[in-house]
Amino acid sequence: MIPYGRHHIDKDDLLAVNKVLKSNFLTQGPLIKKFEGLISKFVGSKYAVVVSSCTAGLHLASIISENTKGKKLLTSPISFVSTANSSLFTGGDVAFADIEEETGNISIESVRTILNKFKINSISPVHFGGLPCDMISIRRLAKKKNITIYEDAAHSFGAKYDKKNRVGSCKYSDMTVFSFHPVKSIATGEGGCITTNNKKIYDRLIKLRSHGIEKIEKNFFIKSQKNQPWYYEMQELGYHYRSTDIQCALGISQLKKINKFLVKRKKIAKFYDNKFSDLTNATPLQINKRENSSNHLYILLIDFKKINISRSDVMKKLRKAGINTQVHYIPITQHPFYKKKKLNNKLNNTENFYNKALSIPIFYDLKDKEQEHIVHHIKKIIK
Ligand SMILES: Cc1ncc(COP(=O)(O)O)c(C=O)c1O
Repeated sequence: MIPYGRHHIDKDDLLAVNKVLKSNFLTQGPLIKKFEGLISKFVGSKYAVVVSSCTAGLHLASIISENTKGKKLLTSPISFVSTANSSLFTGGDVAFADIEEETGNISIESVRTILNKFKINSISPVHFGGLPCDMISIRRLAKKKNITIYEDAAHSFGAKYDKKNRVGSCKYSDMTVFSFHPVKSIATGEGGCITTNNKKIYDRLIKLRSHGIEKIEKNFFIKSQKNQPWYYEMQELGYHYRSTDIQCALGISQLKKINKFLVKRKKIAKFYDNKFSDLTNATPLQINKRENSSNHLYILLIDFKKINISRSDVMKKLRKAGINTQVHYIPITQHPFYKKKKLNNKLNNTENFYNKALSIPIFYDLKDKEQEHIVHHIKKIIK
């Protein structure tokens, strides 16, 4: 069965992990800082804080943004639930802007309308499928109202805003949060990272990642505890969101391959674009926008009514041909938990998108023959 996404592990990855397993540090060792340094260098940020998952990173970003009682995070309904949940974790609320149907990214028009209607405390743009949002406009709108921005870049490690600047450089935001789940650009099992250019945010993230504990003497609140080698102090409520040296060893090894991973994903996306450009009952999402994207997802918007076959039947037929597909995403607003909130703004593009979306396989090891096989069966079903 061809999955919709999968990690790529080679001999070097195995050796790197094996080496850690034989070393003195499985966790809290030297590889965490090393991985962070390499991530910063790659994305062009001053700081990076590796955490146990992107969800953990979004939670910490929400604490920094002070999404507390009565304050709202604005985000996209076409995302994984973690993005919206991050504000609820910290006692805040959430509002959803509609998306652009051609990209699946948050619509600037809708963001503007919501900012005029509600008081918004922070924005979390989601670079959907690896295609960066229009961050220049989002930044401009947020700046006027002193709104914090944390980018949900779970899909977009390696993507660029333009020829020069990578997502994660925080050129337009306060923080950027990545995921290293196996279907993402690089894999560490579970894992994530927050990047920032702000030293104060960085110091606080380090503390929050590890129980709110401070170990550096010059930062102690209780100054009489100087020169006590065992001493550390918990200064605020923090969490255990650390990554391990085992995961970071894998991350370091995977990062060495990021460019070839990105090149291959782009090649597959362009191959599909070319093959599917003549379809009359379906359109590739983000067609011809592959250049700066990390091409995490390849989504077809299929007019299921027109072809008179339901999405589940299309998925079943493809499954029979050995092809697994997925739907990204059920709009967050349609989950029972969020339905209870009775958010009443109309999200027409989101609904249209959800009715049509189907994610087809894209990952490093997808062979040419498999790509042909996928195209053949999709065309046969939805011609
Ligand atoms: C857009 C988005 N945000 C956040 C997450 C959460 O990532 P993680 O599984 O690393 O917590 C995901 C995971 O799929 C995602 O797709």
